Amino acid sequence: MNIQEVKDYIENHKERFINELVELLKIPSVSADSAYDSETKRCANHVKQSLLDVGVDFAEVCPTAGHAIVYAEKINDPTKPTILVYGHYDVQPADPVSLWSSPPFDPVIKDGKIFARGSADDKGQFYMHVKAFEILSNLGELPCNVKFMIEGEEEVGSSNLGLFVKENKEKLKADVIVISDTSIIDNDTPSITVGLRGLSYVEVEVTGPSKDLHSGVYGGAVDNPVNVLCEMIASLKDENNAITVEGFYDKVEVVSDEDRAAMAEAPFNKQDYLDAVGVKATRTENGYSDREGTSIRPTLDVNGIWGGYIGEGAKTVLPSKAYAKISMRLVPHQEPDEITALFKSHFEKIAPPSVKVKVTAHHGGEPVVIPTDNPGYKAASRAMELTFGKKPIPERGGGSIPIVALFEKELGLKSILMGFGLDSDDIHSPDEHYGIFNYLKGIETIPYFHKFFEEESAK
Ligand code: BES
Ligand code: MN
Ligand code: MN
Repeated sequence: MNIQEVKDYIENHKERFINELVELLKIPSVSADSAYDSETKRCANHVKQSLLDVGVDFAEVCPTAGHAIVYAEKINDPTKPTILVYGHYDVQPADPVSLWSSPPFDPVIKDGKIFARGSADDKGQFYMHVKAFEILSNLGELPCNVKFMIEGEEEVGSSNLGLFVKENKEKLKADVIVISDTSIIDNDTPSITVGLRGLSYVEVEVTGPSKDLHSGVYGGAVDNPVNVLCEMIASLKDENNAITVEGFYDKVEVVSDEDRAAMAEAPFNKQDYLDAVGVKATRTENGYSDREGTSIRPTLDVNGIWGGYIGEGAKTVLPSKAYAKISMRLVPHQEPDEITALFKSHFEKIAPPSVKVKVTAHHGGEPVVIPTDNPGYKAASRAMELTFGKKPIPERGGGSIPIVALFEKELGLKSILMGFGLDSDDIHSPDEHYGIFNYLKGIETIPYFHKFFEEESAK
């Protein structure tokens, strides 16, 4: 296998590669919304068929208590190392659909990008592995055995994948896991994600009077839960933009000055960053850069807040209840259950006696760090260096893929996070898109990951 053969194959088949992705993107596999369950199921079958089409030994749709997991494998030579590819075929809800420039499940190609929900997260990215496998098969070179595990519940917390992994350890036996579900710095600056943040997610309910009251008759004496919730939330950050939950930072890993200096080497254009998100300034925890704020430091963000009257016109009401959904992104060595417990007791403690509060935990996830001194990382680094012409920079990502920590625990395997997206792909947002350059570059790079993984494992 040489770079020209791979390039030629892609050049000769790229229209079809793009069309196949377009077909996959037309299926609205929204895992969070049961109205789409039959589409999500159809998507699983579609993924299974796409794997059979490229010559796996077998492929199956494995039912779970939730959405199915697609599993496939090609065991070419049991003496060779095995690569387990993980990805997700489920997508985030598309709403608010009115903010999309084109329908989310009717893919449009514009300015070298495919616009559709799931294009970058994660259909376009896991499908690169399917097409890279096609190339390897057709060039008659499979340096490694390959297993595919493509799930349908990543966007809703992967709650059934954990059980599947525990029950199928033998089947999932591999030497490395590779995941393309993250970003590179930019198209001229390849990077490999070496850390993901964890997550603690809570919903809070603040109750004041037992029912909605007249805000004139009672306002001024009976406390208002919406006001109280706002005060409580405001107090969760101090004047340094640090989180005030007691004990929150106790286990936070202190990153060395040397590592921070190395991270600061990565290119970052502040004005482009501001323009891309449409703000005039950022606000970080004192003493930390923007990039550090989104990688090595934990966060606390309100994801949604509601309560009281939000209909047309004005209604003078003193509401009975107020709610918020709050997420905390965690860094090593914070533990999600512990952080959730700390949040709960802090939140209960700061509530004034005029209200009652209830804190409910949602799914969480542990943070991860990926070492760079192993065959998987080295193979990914060599493959990207070859196809981008530049050595990739190891970089910590701000998002979460909670199942990565579980893979380590249950399978004893580190994951290699070799994603090809861009932070500007608008994942989870209206107008999500994936660059054709990125899609094809991934398809070009992955065959070399296989080749170099075999070489690095033999060393
Ligand atoms: N692919 C993302 C995670 C991601 C994106 C990591 C960009 C690094 C860079 C994944 O699909 C995702 O959205 N994860 C959720 C996890 C949650 C649903 C438990 C997240 O990060 O919010
Ligand atoms: Mn994803
Ligand atoms: Mn996602």
